[in-house]
This record gives sequence, structure tokens and C-alpha cells, in this order.
Amino acid sequence: MDSARTGLDPAVDRRTVADLRAAGGLKWSLFPDSIGAFVAESDLGTAPAVREALREAVERERFGYLPPALADDLAAAYAGWSAARYGWAPDPARVRPVGDVMAAFRATVRHLTAPGSTIVLPTPAYMPFLTVPATLGRRVVEVPLVPDGDRLVHDLDAIGRALADGGGLLVLCNPHNPTGRVLDREELLGIARVADAHGARVFADEIHAPLVYAGRRHVPYTSVDPVAAAHAVTATSASKAWNIPGLKCAQVVLGSDADAARWREVGEEYEHGASTPGVLASTAAYTDGGPWLDDLLAYLDGNRRLLADLLAEQLPAVRYTPPEGTYLAWLDCRGLGLGDHPGRHFADAGVALTDGPACGRAGHGFARYTLATPRPVLRETVARLAASVPPPA
Ligand SMILES: Cc1ncc(COP(=O)(O)O)c(C=O)c1O
Repeated sequence: MDSARTGLDPAVDRRTVADLRAAGGLKWSLFPDSIGAFVAESDLGTAPAVREALREAVERERFGYLPPALADDLAAAYAGWSAARYGWAPDPARVRPVGDVMAAFRATVRHLTAPGSTIVLPTPAYMPFLTVPATLGRRVVEVPLVPDGDRLVHDLDAIGRALADGGGLLVLCNPHNPTGRVLDREELLGIARVADAHGARVFADEIHAPLVYAGRRHVPYTSVDPVAAAHAVTATSASKAWNIPGLKCAQVVLGSDADAARWREVGEEYEHGASTPGVLASTAAYTDGGPWLDDLLAYLDGNRRLLADLLAEQLPAVRYTPPEGTYLAWLDCRGLGLGDHPGRHFADAGVALTDGPACGRAGHGFARYTLATPRPVLRETVARLAASVPPPA
């Protein structure tokens, strides 16, 4: 296929705020008077291969319960994608469909950790990891990431203490939401050793794995060491990279035969949430969606750099390290003097960001911005943010 038929729509830059609002998605309708920049959704569309798969699903009325053959196709497509892009091929028999990543998380907590054990959560974190454990009768222990130069890294000593103190499951999000960090093999090995030393489980949320910029590479946690594979449950999805979260399909990758056997006993309830159109679309994304994703990453790379330039010009008190992966920007607003909740201030200024404290105590004074948007919208967003605070002296 030529790139005109496989690549990013060349007209994405011409999508206006009015166009995006008219499309009616959550991001642009929840706060109708604001620029939508909170939820991790993209304004840049999806791959032609995904649209084609969905058109065909409509033509053939593939709206029934999920047949096993389609689950197998998805597992094979994901294994092929992982081998080609991450250099590691999981056994397709260990790849199972679920509705979304948090369904995989709930299954892991309920069926693979001890009742009463705590959930050890490096923060800042994806917001539901702070709230969902309580619905499962589990307590969250936050362990803040710590600065290492410009990067934020996991505090292995503090994680070890939290695991020793009753922690049964460590949540590892890589690429990391909200900071955009992409962990290297050494960092992952360090985490695997600490978890293993305490007999803990790791829930590896790798939903942003396809969204890694040039110069970094996604390393699947399970691939680093047999010890890691033995205690890990990985969840990933095409939903962020190909912008299809409403289609309800994620993938669980079970790290061991024992967990695969347990999943066969308990997994049906969670697999029931995966929709047939979502499985077809995700299979198409992993099989034929690579060229479009490469275009998308090139566009997002431009955005993450443009954001740095615009902030330096207009909001120099905001500290921002461009993400290594994801289309999320973690903005340190503490220099603006807006207190713990800068998101509340910016909401009044007409920009709906994720307020940092929603990501945990380590998020006080921060805000998360979703930069997967047309560049003119990105420019307008920064201009609105800048106009809402006193100009630099
Ligand atoms: C780190 C992370 N995990 C999980 C999810 C949930 O995604 P989904 O509902 O598509 O599975 C998101 C969505 O933004 C996310 O950023």
C-alpha cells in the first residue's frame, strides 16, 4: 500500500477546535467551553487499516460474541507486532483478550495476589490505579518516583520497604503515564530483582508501548529475565496508539504456565468484556497499522518539541522534560505559585488538563497535558495557559 493510503491524514493540522468539538468525543464534550486536553485520547485519528477493518466488520455484521478464532488471530497479530517492534515474541497461547487494561488489573489483584496484601504504586500514576484497589478491598501504598538528573526513576529501596511491609503487587507502568519515561533494561532488571526478593507480583501496564520516540525502545518487562516473567502479568492494548479505546479490547500477556492455567479457570469473566469489533480493529492495527503509527510518532515528536519551545517562550516557570514515550506531557507548575492544584486554575482559564493530585501525592503542583492534538490547537492551548498567569518579570 502506498503511504497516502496507509499514513497519517495530511490534513490533521487543519482540524480546528470547532471540528474536534463537533466530532463529539469525551475529550471535547465533557467541558464544552474548554480546550480538551485531559483524557489520554488523540485528536489525530486512527490508521486506515483500522478504519477498513471496522468497515468490513459493519458490512459483515460482525457484532456477535467473540469467536475463539478471532481471539487467536489477535494473539498471533500481537505476538508478531511485539517480535517486530520490541524484539520479543510472546507465546500466542499466553496472550488473551480483555475489555480494557483495568479489567486485567482487577483480575490480577483478585486471583493472583493474597487477600489483604497491599498494592505498591509508584506515583505519580495513571489515576484509576489510586482508586480501583479500594473497590477490591485493597489499600494502595504510594512510592514517589525520585529525580535522577532530568529523569524520574523508581526508588528501589522504598519499593522494597513497601513490599516487605505487606505489599503483594507492584504496579509498573512503562512507558510511564504521566511522566512519559521509557524504562531501560537495567531499570527493569532492578525492579524485577526487588519484586522477586519479596515474592511479589508485578502488574506491567504497557499500554503506551507502541508510542516510543526515536532514540528509545520499548523493552517488555517479561522479556528481561525469567524471574520477571514468572511474577508478571502484562497488559497492553492498541487503544492508545491507534486511538480506539471505545472499542473495548486490550491484551493480557501471562508470564508463566502457572498463571496461564489459573487464567483458564478465571479469565472468562474478563474476556467477556472484549468486543468483537475491538478485536478485529486491534488485529488490523498490529498487522497493518505500523506505517501509520510511524507517521503519527513523527507528528507527535514535532509536538513534544514544539511544546518545549512554546513553554520556554511563554511560560518559562513551567518545567517540562519532553516525554520519551506516550503523548502525555507532565508539567511541573510549582514555579507558577498556583498551589497544589494548578489544573483547577487552568480549568478556569478554559483549558481542561488532568490536575496533578489526581495522579497521587507526588502530583501536587503538576498538571498533565495530552499533546496528541493539531499543532494550531497546541499553540492556542499554551497561549491560553500563558495568558492566565502573570507575565514573567
Ligand atoms: C497507563 C494507562 N493504563 C491504562 C489505561 C486504560 O486504557 P484502556 O481503557 O484503553 O484499557 C490508560 C488510559 O489512558 C493508561 O494511560
